This record gives sequence, C-alpha cells and structure tokens, in this order.
Amino acid sequence: MDDRIISANLMMDDQAVELSLRPRYLAEYIGQTNVKENLKVYIEAAKMRSEALDHVLLYGPPGLGKTTLSNIIANELGVNLRTTSGPAIERPGDLAAILTNLQEGDVLFIDEIHRLHRTVEEVLYPAMEDFALDIMIGKGPSARSVRLDLPAFTLIGATTRAGLLSSPLRDRFGVVSRLEFYTVPELAFIVSRAADILGVEMIGEAAEEIAMRSRGTPRIANRLLKRVRDFAQVRGDGVITYEMAKSALGLIQVDPKGLDQIDHKMLTAMITSFRGGPVGLDTIAATIGEESQTIEDVYEPYLMQIGFLQRTPRGRIVTPLAYAHLGLPVPQNIAGQADPSTEV
Ligand SMILES: Nc1ncnc2c1ncn2[C@@H]1O[C@H](COP(=O)(O)OP(=O)(O)OP(=O)(O)O)[C@@H](O)[C@H]1O
Ligand SMILES: [Mg+2]
Repeated sequence: MDDRIISANLMMDDQAVELSLRPRYLAEYIGQTNVKENLKVYIEAAKMRSEALDHVLLYGPPGLGKTTLSNIIANELGVNLRTTSGPAIERPGDLAAILTNLQEGDVLFIDEIHRLHRTVEEVLYPAMEDFALDIMIGKGPSARSVRLDLPAFTLIGATTRAGLLSSPLRDRFGVVSRLEFYTVPELAFIVSRAADILGVEMIGEAAEEIAMRSRGTPRIANRLLKRVRDFAQVRGDGVITYEMAKSALGLIQVDPKGLDQIDHKMLTAMITSFRGGPVGLDTIAATIGEESQTIEDVYEPYLMQIGFLQRTPRGRIVTPLAYAHLGLPVPQNIAGQADPSTEV
C-alpha cells in the first residue's frame, strides 16, 4: 500500500526478519499487560478443563502484534494453528473444508476477519456457537439440511477495523481484546531483544532513541532498527551507539516523535490552508493527495494518540502540541486549550 519507512503495514523485506523476531510464548511477549494477563487465565482454565479456549477477537492498528499473539495462544495451548484470512475464503465450501479438517482443541486464525464474505460468515455462526456445520443436501423441493458435528475449536479473529464487523459475528467471540500502542520503555525492550537476536551490538540510549520514533508500534521499531544497523555497518564499526541511531534516524527523515514527511505535510497543510481546522477527513485527503481510508487507518490513530490531532464532530483539529512540535506559533484562539497529550 505504501513504502513509508514508518508505515505500520507489513512490507516485503520485513517478512523474513519478523519471523525470527516474533516472540513464541506469552513470557516473551512484551507489553499489552492487560490483554496478556487475561489470556493467561483463560488459557490456563481451558487447559485445566481440557476444553477449547473461547473464541478470541483481537483488534487494533497494524503492527501491534495480533498475528504474533495468535501464534502464541496456539503455542501456549499446545495445539495446532491453522491460519487463513477473510478475503482468502471465497466460498462457504472453502470454510467448511477448513473446519472439517480441524482437530479437537485446534486454533483457527482468521486474519482480516472484517473482510469475510457474507455467505461465508453465515457458515461460521453455527460453527462458533455449536461446533456444527449445516449443509444442504439435494436441490429443489427434496433439499434438506443436515447438521454435521465439528471438533471443538478456538477461532481467533484479527482485525484493524473492529467497527466493520457485523454484530452477530462480534457477539460470538467470548474474549474481545483491544491491543494498545506500546510505551517507549516497552519498545526499547523490544528493540534490545531484537538486536540480541540479530547479533547487533547496541549501546547507551540507542534503544530508547529508536523506541521514541517508532510510533508505539513494534513492527516499526524493528524496521528502524534494521535501517540503523545498515548505517552503523557502513558509516561506523557496526555498533549502534546513541549518536549513530540519532543521526541515522535523522537521515531517513523520521523525526523525534516518529513523524515523517507525510505527517508533516498533513499537519502543515491543515495549519496553512485551514487555520488548523476543524477540517473534514476528505478535504485533508484531497489536499495532500492521499486516500481518506489510509489517513483514517494509518496516519491518524498515532497522531491522535500523541495528542497532535483531535477528532471533533466538525472535523479534525491540530492541537497546540502539534504547533509546538512543528516550531510554529500557537494561534490565540486555541492557545489556552487544555493539554490533550497522552504519553506514548
Ligand atoms: N508484544 C511484542 N513483543 C515483542 N515483539 C512484538 C510484539 N508484538 C509485535 N512484535 C513484533 O512486531 C512484529 C509485527 O507484529 P504482528 O505481525 O503480530 O502484528 P499484527 O498486529 O498482526 O499486524 P497486521 O495488522 O499488519 O497484521 C512481529 O513480527 C514481532 O517481531
Ligand atoms: Mg497480522
């Protein structure tokens, strides 16, 4: 979709590295304490009762660890994981084939579950609720429906857009967990662990420097680490020092808050053309030549998280914090506003 260095979306050259960096057990999964503690209890309980774990819905912005967590859940349960995605299941028969091949207690992971076809979704309802599959036999007046039993399984659905899920589907998940942006110390820990795995020496405050610019997102943290490693290798002696990290991140144009040229362009356009807002999403999109959807899913969540943007019924507003970050004078009319910042 995009090739921004700070994009939270998965890119081609992330894949190999992500596999090696992906934590395999809950104990290695950093942050998301609330989600993790709850899951720990549910997993333990399911194991004690020798039952399948309740269906789990994981939602939140890209790159926060939904896929990682589903792998971990299957590992912790000691069961097989079958992975697929909403758009990959084209017909009800495809889903039926997947379901009938599951073993007792298995985890079925459906990524991008908000993109399931309607007809496929209907097969999922009885499967989730009663571990049953209703199939039609015959055609016309003699057609009848037969119910097939399925093994008890756990469905894990992942989505970046929980709002797009139909309510009957959403209601069938026993556990609904929202993943949050990570704090700087958490990201620093993730980056240090990744450096260890990659066999790169990182010293001083380098991990914190990378963490600060990672937009609360482990995927971005790991990607920035790889870029900084390249600079350390070519311009230095391979060791990632604080100075090396800082200058490399400057060169790839990721600012101290993790904003890149496009964030700057968007905030600046809102300030210069619309006096800081309120301005509608579609107007912003047209002004900077991006799709509204991309702005809403990818750029905005982080800018709102760090208190640079506010969403109001009348449109988006640039906050005093953002003016200060860009080194621009804060306009009189919003200067007295309460500080909306939340630390990432
Ligand atoms: N809690 C964590 N601790 C350590 N590393 C993590 C954690 N969460 C994610 N990561 C790292 O970030 C990478 C991206 O995570 P993952 O692929 O699970 O994100 P995702 O939420 O599924 O993203 P998408 O919405 O794009 O599918 C992983 O490969 C892993 O290296
Ligand atoms: Mg994923």
